[in-house]
Amino acid sequence: MAAAKEQWGSRIGLILAMAGNAVGLGNFLRFPVQAVQNGGGAFMIPYLVSFLLMGIPLLWVEWAMGRYGGKFGDHSTPFILDNMTHQRFWKYFGVFGIFTNIGVMAYYTYIESWTLTYAIKSIKGDFLGMPLNEVGATFDRYVDLGSSINLPIWAIVAYLITLIINIYILSRGLSGGVEKVAKFGMPLLLIFGFFLAIRGITLGSTGRCPDCNSHLGLDFLWRPEFSSLADPKVWLAAAGQIFFTLSVGMGTIQCYASYVRQKDDIALNAMSAGWMNSFVEVVLGASVVIPIAVGYFGLDWVKENAGFMMAFKSMPFLFDQFGPVLAVLSGLAWFGLLFFAGITSSLAMGTPWMGFMEDEFKWSRNKAALSLGVVILVLSLPTILFFGKGVFDEYDYWTGTVALVLFALAEVVLFGWVFGMDKGWAEITSGADMKVPRLYRPIIKYVTPLFILVIFLTSVFKPLNGGLDDWGKGFAQLGAGQGWPWAKDSIVNQLFHLDTGIVWFEQGIPTNMFYIDMSRFLLVFTFIGLGALVAIASRKRRQNA
Ligand code: TRP
Repeated sequence: MAAAKEQWGSRIGLILAMAGNAVGLGNFLRFPVQAVQNGGGAFMIPYLVSFLLMGIPLLWVEWAMGRYGGKFGDHSTPFILDNMTHQRFWKYFGVFGIFTNIGVMAYYTYIESWTLTYAIKSIKGDFLGMPLNEVGATFDRYVDLGSSINLPIWAIVAYLITLIINIYILSRGLSGGVEKVAKFGMPLLLIFGFFLAIRGITLGSTGRCPDCNSHLGLDFLWRPEFSSLADPKVWLAAAGQIFFTLSVGMGTIQCYASYVRQKDDIALNAMSAGWMNSFVEVVLGASVVIPIAVGYFGLDWVKENAGFMMAFKSMPFLFDQFGPVLAVLSGLAWFGLLFFAGITSSLAMGTPWMGFMEDEFKWSRNKAALSLGVVILVLSLPTILFFGKGVFDEYDYWTGTVALVLFALAEVVLFGWVFGMDKGWAEITSGADMKVPRLYRPIIKYVTPLFILVIFLTSVFKPLNGGLDDWGKGFAQLGAGQGWPWAKDSIVNQLFHLDTGIVWFEQGIPTNMFYIDMSRFLLVFTFIGLGALVAIASRKRRQNA
């Protein structure tokens, strides 16, 4: 029962843990790639608007929901939502707030384990003098892309170590584990980040090619461009990034906030953690991978090759150009930074499950942590073993992209309309150490839900290429009776494989789609399983009432 009394140890610990939750791989890997693929500075304005009209309101709403739930001893969204509404629908909708976390944690901890391996490789000097294609091939061999015979043994070992570290820290509790890691890891991350950002900013021209100049990379990312304001594609990407980077729409913040004392501030805390995340993202996240890569390869190369894997497939080679001492230091700083960014986020993803099991089944912290380890292991094995088949991306699409939007939409409607803005506003402002701008009252009630609704519908029905005129063309085509030109990554096409049809076997051999669809079933099964646990918990509650 000790677990029920869990609380944050100090305000700074709480803020750092919340900032650690937000600051993650998304800030350093996802953000720069999204920005480059969406026109650099053209991405910035939709990104900023999404932050102000969607990110900030969601932060306040989620912190308020969490602290409110904590009042009744609830620490995960099914019963937090239940307490706000006493309607069965919302309780089961709350399953998303556990599901998304463990779904994301399953593939996120895998990336985290790469950063651990690469930090060690960097210290050992493995990449010194290694040509670029060999650095890339090292990664492919590590995760075993391309071959279907060998197991990626080292990737699995490193993964298990990473998972055990996570589970161990979680088993120590919030103030005894998570908070300590955040207090140590966040400052270290900032130091590493500044070190690398200064390198990216001061690198300048390397003379490797006519436009090999890190400043061109910075200019590309930071010079605001208004041209993209009418491009729905860029808005989708920007809003998606805001969701992912702030960790909103996932139930994580609610869970962390449910351990805040009732009289304590949430308004200013939410802003501190949120703005810290944006700073790390826009300033530090933008100053490392892209400028350094532009410094050696030029902007055109980067625009063409920007991708998530650059962090592992190009960075070690680029660091090597700094000379051996700086190469080792930079490698350690970069992968160490990614590791701490990752672990302070994955710890947050683990807490809703643990809170739920402790609340409802009176499990001890150790038992809850151990069970989390088993669940995550089962869910992550497919992403590791069938990484090359696209299972990893599939998890990211449903749990790290679609589920967040859906949950966020529902929760702001619940907060502003079902729970009601009077009570909601009182929750946000109670104990507040800042004056929450009143403008945010109508924003939370009207603007944010509408904003998210448009984002959601746009991603459900996205037409081929997704630009503004593509929507026009789509309607014209629909009017002419030729059907809607679904984009490959529209939710409808993803769901039904409209573009290719369902092909599970080719000449008796399972296709990638087979693996992908099986992983979907696994995720659906997980969701249903969680729903069943909520049903069992509800029955127990009724019996004890
Ligand atoms: N915000 C984190 C990042 O930028 C990711 C993250 C943290 C997350 N907590 C989450 C994603 C919970 C999904 C669910 O990397």
